[in-house]
Amino acid sequence: MSLSTPSFFFLTFFFFLFNLQPSFSQHQFSSFNISNSPWQPSQNRTLLSPNKNFTAGFSPVPNSNNLFIFSIWYSKVPKTANNIVWSDTTQVNSSGSLVITSKSELLLDGSPFQGTADTNASRLELKDNGELAFGNWSSFKNPTNTVLPNQSFTGIELLSNNGKFRFTKSQFLVLNSTSDQYYSTPNPLLSMDDAGKMSMQGNSFLTSDYGDPRFRKVVLDDDGNLRIYSFYPEQNNQWLEVWKGIWEMCTIKGKCGSNAICVPGEDLNSSTHCDCPSGFTPNQGGSEEGCTRKISLSQSTQFLRLDYVNFTSDGNLNKIKADNFTICESGCSRDKTCLGFGFKYDGSGYCVWVTGTNLRFGYWSPGTEAAFFLKVDKSESTPSNFIGLTEVMQTTCPVNLSLPLPPKDSNTTARNIAIICTLFAAELIAGVAFFWSFLKRYIKYRDMATTLGLELLPAGGPKRFTYSEIKAATNDFSNLIGKGGFGDVYKGELPDHRVVAVKCLKNVTGGDAEFWAEVTIIARMHHLNLVRLWGFCAEKGQRILVYEHIPCGSLDKYLFRVNKSHSNNNNHLKDQTNPNTPQQKPVLDWSMRYRIALGVARAIAYLHEECLEWVLHCDIKPENILLGDDFCPKISDFGLAKLRKKEDMVTMSRRRGTPGYMAPEWITADPITSKADVYSFGMVLLELVSGIRNFEIQDSVLRSEEWYFPGWAFDKMFKEMRVEEILDAQIRNAYDSRTHFDMVNRMVKTAMWCLQDRPELRPTMGKVAKMLEGTVEILEPKKPTVFFLGEE
Ligand SMILES: *[C@@H]1O[C@H](CO)[C@@H](O)[C@H](O)[C@H]1NC(C)=O
Ligand SMILES: *[C@@H]1O[C@H](CO)[C@@H](O)[C@H](O)[C@H]1NC(C)=O
Ligand SMILES: *[C@@H]1O[C@H](CO)[C@@H](O)[C@H](O)[C@H]1NC(C)=O
Ligand SMILES: *[C@@H]1O[C@H](CO)[C@@H](O)[C@H](O)[C@H]1NC(C)=O
Ligand SMILES: *[C@@H]1O[C@H](CO)[C@@H](O)[C@H](O)[C@H]1NC(C)=O
Ligand SMILES: *[C@@H]1O[C@H](CO)[C@@H](O)[C@H](O)[C@H]1NC(C)=O
Ligand SMILES: *[C@@H]1O[C@H](CO)[C@@H](O)[C@H](O)[C@H]1NC(C)=O
Ligand SMILES: *[C@@H]1O[C@H](CO)[C@@H](O)[C@H](O)[C@H]1NC(C)=O
Ligand SMILES: *[C@@H]1O[C@H](CO)[C@@H](O)[C@H](O)[C@H]1NC(C)=O
Ligand SMILES: *[C@@H]1O[C@H](CO)[C@@H](O)[C@H](O)[C@H]1NC(C)=O
Ligand SMILES: *[C@@H]1O[C@H](CO)[C@@H](O)[C@H](O)[C@H]1NC(C)=O
Ligand SMILES: *[C@@H]1O[C@H](CO)[C@@H](O)[C@H](O)[C@H]1NC(C)=O
Repeated sequence: MSLSTPSFFFLTFFFFLFNLQPSFSQHQFSSFNISNSPWQPSQNRTLLSPNKNFTAGFSPVPNSNNLFIFSIWYSKVPKTANNIVWSDTTQVNSSGSLVITSKSELLLDGSPFQGTADTNASRLELKDNGELAFGNWSSFKNPTNTVLPNQSFTGIELLSNNGKFRFTKSQFLVLNSTSDQYYSTPNPLLSMDDAGKMSMQGNSFLTSDYGDPRFRKVVLDDDGNLRIYSFYPEQNNQWLEVWKGIWEMCTIKGKCGSNAICVPGEDLNSSTHCDCPSGFTPNQGGSEEGCTRKISLSQSTQFLRLDYVNFTSDGNLNKIKADNFTICESGCSRDKTCLGFGFKYDGSGYCVWVTGTNLRFGYWSPGTEAAFFLKVDKSESTPSNFIGLTEVMQTTCPVNLSLPLPPKDSNTTARNIAIICTLFAAELIAGVAFFWSFLKRYIKYRDMATTLGLELLPAGGPKRFTYSEIKAATNDFSNLIGKGGFGDVYKGELPDHRVVAVKCLKNVTGGDAEFWAEVTIIARMHHLNLVRLWGFCAEKGQRILVYEHIPCGSLDKYLFRVNKSHSNNNNHLKDQTNPNTPQQKPVLDWSMRYRIALGVARAIAYLHEECLEWVLHCDIKPENILLGDDFCPKISDFGLAKLRKKEDMVTMSRRRGTPGYMAPEWITADPITSKADVYSFGMVLLELVSGIRNFEIQDSVLRSEEWYFPGWAFDKMFKEMRVEEILDAQIRNAYDSRTHFDMVNRMVKTAMWCLQDRPELRPTMGKVAKMLEGTVEILEPKKPTVFFLGEE
């Protein structure tokens, strides 16, 4: 909506006042008929629905002198919060008129109003649900960009106010000018009810904040996204977004012109911008933000690699299965009309040749899990500008790495068994605390479930498994591979041979739409460095999450070494139950550690950018970073942390008696923001470098309170300039200052920024990833200050 000039507010504010003040009731009528014709904009009259929730009338056109448009708006929503729900297309001046004639016609300035030419009726009325009706003509059947509760989606089309996007066939979002589809709801939408339950065909539903009675609307916004909003008077009279179709705004077609690549903004809002790939320059003076080729293609060409980029074109997409990269590449080289090709490194043989004259709808998203190879002339010398990600793509996962064998156990790496036992006890107590909070929530869930009904299952989300399927997949839960705060984890195999990790949230009864909404959100998060949630099971009181199985276990087992005798003594430790787990883990070398840091940073940045506000943060610690076949890091348990209460987290931190991975604001009264994750990540980063648990850095001479790991590392690195002292003893020997200094320096400096005491001093996760990549300059960090946990 662009109805936002001061004059508009001013004028419409009067309407607002009139609506609320009965003394102006002569200006309001409950139905418009021949006896109150004509209706003119200058009369200040409005038509009210019987329940007074909706108002119809002439409202001034913004930025226009004396022009009006017939509209419907919410009576009780301030103009500033965008209260228009429907508008006519014809603008009239102040002497315009709406008339019901003696022939029962509805005329606006002498012509039939909207599509009422075929309709004869005696009155125009506004119903309680916001529907304007004249005989069998209805505003509900001729919507603009908004659909209200009780309004059927069947047979209608929505057009965004800027005319760019269309929602059609109750299901598809398309670019209006081209009919190019870019989104589809899981099933065709039917309608939303008063409580906000959005029904779809096939007895399925979309999940949002349903429940309370409040104003709600479905809007096709000018940015091309379809959203459900709920009006929260208690939160500054705002419309809050409670559901949206598209999570990655760059996948909306038409965000950028031809040959350009849409790149998401760095911050948490949904901004995007358009970049030209190397070898292209922005169009001069064109209306679109497109790009033109600098050197036209000749006989000899080369390919520039653009990581995580996807393109289509004005020609064809030819998808083939290529055994290897060479096959995919040579096919595109040979074809004159081929502009480039998409390729996946995951061994799936994904190869798409893109032919035509111009590339279109380019976007960058880690969700593509692919690289695009852009054909440019051989003489083009600019390197690819999407190389920030080249390194990950090269290293993330295609090759098998050979790892150095672990060094012989030595006294320097021996850990005090007492510390481990204490830790274990702390974990146990913390686990019990989480469990209680779980239980409390589920009791609430169960109550809600009886009112909402279990039918409120999100459609198009993760697959719903039956309990017997899970039982069969896990061979009757026979292969326990871990025990965590959230429940036991079993290994299993689905009938399609996918290996899965099955997490049982045990002894939990009841079920609830909110819970499933969370599962849906988690399952929507697609990133190379996030563990994928494939499905869930809710049956017989079981609450089970089905994840992809990550074979190598968690980072802590590689980083923090327990020597052999200790691990034998501690077979009961969590995650030690798999008898197949080899005792000796290979040592991670510097480049692997760097790669893990980068992968984790990118995944968290992705979570932060994609998560809506109510999706809380991750619980970042080495236990939650799993390593894939090829040491590709994958974050697990994201989204589950939101089930924890702040108090529980504090309890856990206090039990440990030393600062762990939790940002100071968990202990203070400050609000928890995404910057808390940045802090935790900083700790993990330092641990990657040092191979020491941040709360285990204890010296026999000094008491633990006098140690603050980040402060200690800062002094070693930047004051004493003795880098080698903070490096992991296991690979200290492999450290070569010429080749590794830059990498280690960048990791430590970035960590120092992440570990700043005050959240606002810490960079955003997107920035952190860039700092690690080396694509932004890292200023000298301040020394992280010690914070004490309190009186103890
Ligand atoms: C309401 O009517 C008065 C006089 O009839 C006019 O001066 C004023 O501009 C009108 N207000 C609106 C909002 O149209
Ligand atoms: C027109 O509507 C008004 C109320 O808005 C009502 O009082 C009047 O009786 C109606 N007239 C006709 C002819 O229906
Ligand atoms: C209002 O518009 C009508 C036709 O649309 C025109 O005839 C009339 O002159 C206009 N009046 C004013 C005051 O602009
Ligand atoms: C509406 O009324 C007009 C005039 O009375 C008449 O010519 C026309 O046929 C009617 N239309 C319908 C659909 O009844
Ligand atoms: C929507 O429809 C239901 C059932 O038809 C009805 O009970 C409810 O009052 C309607 N809501 C509105 C706002 O009209
Ligand atoms: C409305 O009713 C008239 C007859 O009363 C019919 O000719 C016309 O097609 C109907 N319009 C719609 C949209 O149903
Ligand atoms: C939408 O596209 C159609 C053709 O597909 C065109 O006629 C119409 O004018 C477009 N609407 C807007 C508002 O641009
Ligand atoms: C509409 O108005 C009625 C009566 O004033 C009220 O009970 C109802 O809650 C309102 N509808 C919504 C969605 O707020
Ligand atoms: C998003 O953030 C950018 C940069 O901070 C800002 O310029 C832009 O106005 C924001 N957009 C929205 C819709 O808030
Ligand atoms: C790619 O596959 C083809 C056919 O399977 C084979 O001839 C070729 O040697 C392979 N190239 C590489 C680099 O592996
Ligand atoms: C690239 O975009 C096309 C068209 O939207 C889509 O069909 C294809 O799956 C996308 N490729 C990847 C790797 O996401
Ligand atoms: C990596 O090594 C494992 C065993 O060491 C083997 O099974 C797997 O096929 C190898 N993967 C690749 C891509 O070579």
